[in-house]
Amino acid sequence: MTTTIPREQWYVAAYGVEIRDELFHRTIAGESILFWRTAEGTVTAVSDRCVHRRFPLSQAPTRLVDDQVICGYHGFTYGSDGRCTAVPGQTRVPRTARLTSYPIREQDSLVWVWIGDPARAADTPIPRAPWLDDPAWTVVRGLEPLAARFGLLVDNLLDLSHETYLHGGSIGTPEVAGTPITTEVDDEAGVVHVSRHMDDAECPPFYARSTGLRGRISRWQDIEYTPPCLYLLHSRIAPVGSVPRPDGTDPDAFHVEVVYAITPETEHSTHDFWMVARDFALDDAEVSAFLAEQNRAVVRQDVVALDVLETVVATDPEGAQELSINIDTGGLAARRLLARQLGAGAGGVR
Ligand code: FES
Ligand SMILES: [Fe+2]
Repeated sequence: MTTTIPREQWYVAAYGVEIRDELFHRTIAGESILFWRTAEGTVTAVSDRCVHRRFPLSQAPTRLVDDQVICGYHGFTYGSDGRCTAVPGQTRVPRTARLTSYPIREQDSLVWVWIGDPARAADTPIPRAPWLDDPAWTVVRGLEPLAARFGLLVDNLLDLSHETYLHGGSIGTPEVAGTPITTEVDDEAGVVHVSRHMDDAECPPFYARSTGLRGRISRWQDIEYTPPCLYLLHSRIAPVGSVPRPDGTDPDAFHVEVVYAITPETEHSTHDFWMVARDFALDDAEVSAFLAEQNRAVVRQDVVALDVLETVVATDPEGAQELSINIDTGGLAARRLLARQLGAGAGGVR
């Protein structure tokens, strides 16, 4: 089967808080990876398969002792760099006894893992989401398992007109589907921008309850997608007629940064990391609880729809047709950049 997952890429593997000084497993881009936080506080990642008989090292009774992993099957022991330091019944450790070790970077409260040739990791920048780790913003977040290929979530997030139908009653109002978008692609930086500015729109409950705004609002959605993994939705909610000041400040508006990390788990499943950062009601636990619950419900609606769509896409005959219209320009641009990354990864040194 041909892959749809680009290699030679950084992917979000976990929230920083998920990884503590104990063994943690997650499959990323088809690779089964073992993580832990070392005594020094940095995250380390190695293959989750013992080199001896492939026992999964995340599986009890494997243990982590002083940053050494002791395989729970026959006791092969590994350091945090993946190198085997001891084997049972002999003093000589085979030279090739080494777990694959993965480059890791922790940034903006996220743990990023490099999938591909480690030599290329350092030169490949990781896109930023600074609101996630900034006291001027409050963040709620979650992680939903998605039984669909990650490309379906990319399609979904690049075309928010679906909010009106799939999320009617929460974030979807008629103006979303009714307002045309503008799409721009920065080919060099590899970023897709999709904007929809609704200057006189209904205020959905999601924002009415959290901001206190009532009646008609100005609602801007500016998407910035850096394939394959990071999706940002800069959302601006303000009274009708209000625009940012010439100096760049925007005191009358409420800003919400919706961040998704779209991480393929396998060819047909995805880790759907979602985060909602806001610059208002920072200490209001009720607003946090409401936004977390509402956003999770919205994500679940997408998950249910995409799980169904995956079974259709996976079983429909090869070459089954789609029909694209204006709302799909962002999604098509994203597919083009992903295809370019797939080509580059396949041609790269492995
Ligand atoms: S499978 Fe790990 S030591 Fe044998
Ligand atoms: Fe959605």
